[in-house]
Amino acid sequence: MTVILLRGRILSFHDEPLNGEASTHTFTYLEDGGLLIRDGKITAIDDFAKLRAGDGRNVEVIDHHPHLIMPGFIDCHIHYPQMQVVGSYAGALMEWLDKYTFVEEQKFSNQGHPDKIGSAFFDELIRHGTTTAAAYCSVHKASVRAFYTEAHRRNMRMIAGKVMMDRNAPPGLLDTPQSGYDDSKALIADWHGKGRQLYAITPRFAPTSSQEQLEMSGTLAREFPDMHVQTHLCENTAEIAFVAELFPWSRDYTNVYEHYGLLGPKTLLGHCIHLSDAEVSTIANSGSVAVFCPTSNLFIGSGLFDLARLRASDVRNAIATDIGGGTSYSMLRTLDEGYKILNIQGQRYHPLRSFYQATLGNARALALEGTIGSFVTGAEADCIVLDARATPAMRVRMETVETLVEELMLMQTMGDDRTIAEVYIAGVAAKSTLN
Ligand code: GUN
Ligand code: ZN
Repeated sequence: MTVILLRGRILSFHDEPLNGEASTHTFTYLEDGGLLIRDGKITAIDDFAKLRAGDGRNVEVIDHHPHLIMPGFIDCHIHYPQMQVVGSYAGALMEWLDKYTFVEEQKFSNQGHPDKIGSAFFDELIRHGTTTAAAYCSVHKASVRAFYTEAHRRNMRMIAGKVMMDRNAPPGLLDTPQSGYDDSKALIADWHGKGRQLYAITPRFAPTSSQEQLEMSGTLAREFPDMHVQTHLCENTAEIAFVAELFPWSRDYTNVYEHYGLLGPKTLLGHCIHLSDAEVSTIANSGSVAVFCPTSNLFIGSGLFDLARLRASDVRNAIATDIGGGTSYSMLRTLDEGYKILNIQGQRYHPLRSFYQATLGNARALALEGTIGSFVTGAEADCIVLDARATPAMRVRMETVETLVEELMLMQTMGDDRTIAEVYIAGVAAKSTLN
């Protein structure tokens, strides 16, 4: 049995801090806190002195003062085969996909390539403090195997899926309705529930799936009702016009997914930027999650995610990097760009709310509250240690910081992978042991 006691300033949310500083009941903050971890699970969170006098007696202590210990970041939408797409000079979405992304993803049929990128991918997640992600793999089964093999080896809680796509892409990236279905089922059998791995049914998006393929994706969703579904929705106006051409019978883009039974509380809809009122209410009624991808939406020039509008209609939401449309693996960089997108629309994004979102908020979006995203008894001990003085400029800025909220805002605005001093995966130090 492995037992450790982490000591430091500890912050963990138990609800959404909708009223900023006034929401003190929504989080636990301990100046000299302790987190007792036994066999990868959290068994207690309390003042360090109390734990030390009780269950934490005779246990190894790792002291992270003056840093801040939080649950690991969760990234709700990321493409692992796009590591070598980041920063590709392109115009809007369709050009970016055709010129770079679809070219790059074809390399995942090459022997050895998925393993090489898979290993680099998890190093990068850890370096940036991301301990769980909902990831798209390529169309190739081998890319999913490489992904899970690496995630399982590192004991990281991951959600992933083989992209299903059978049209409007190069031949090397196409499956068929039957092979997409069969391959997904085989991967589910091999990986869903193995260790910390979960499977997501992953039709890429309506433009690259035939009606037969969407039908079979819906069949999978019905056969595995507790499984996540992930896809893209209303990211770009040309994409939306193309969907209208491909599915002339459909009321709108969202209705395509609705028609095939792909919406529901475990469905993650990347982007959700250009939605009609009818679509907003369809998404809200289905309980699906709109995933905000700030750095991607700015880089590809897709548009501004309207969080206030979605929240006013009770649409659930999450936040994510969307590498390789996105430009950073860092959830701190992501929160910062999210702040700017909302600010330019006159919307406030309090740092307590953004840090809630990157942890418990995203865990809720993934229906994994109690498992990850907060320090409750029994939760998996994925933790990050944040250093607000990680760079010379941050150190100078910290001299005038007086409150926790100001510190969070500073880390979100100036932080990146250097801000992540350590990462624990199920209670085991993972960043300091990277090569
Ligand atoms: N829509 C369909 N595929 C993709 C993708 O890989 N990235 C983004 N940003 N949008 C998509
Ligand atoms: Zn995406």
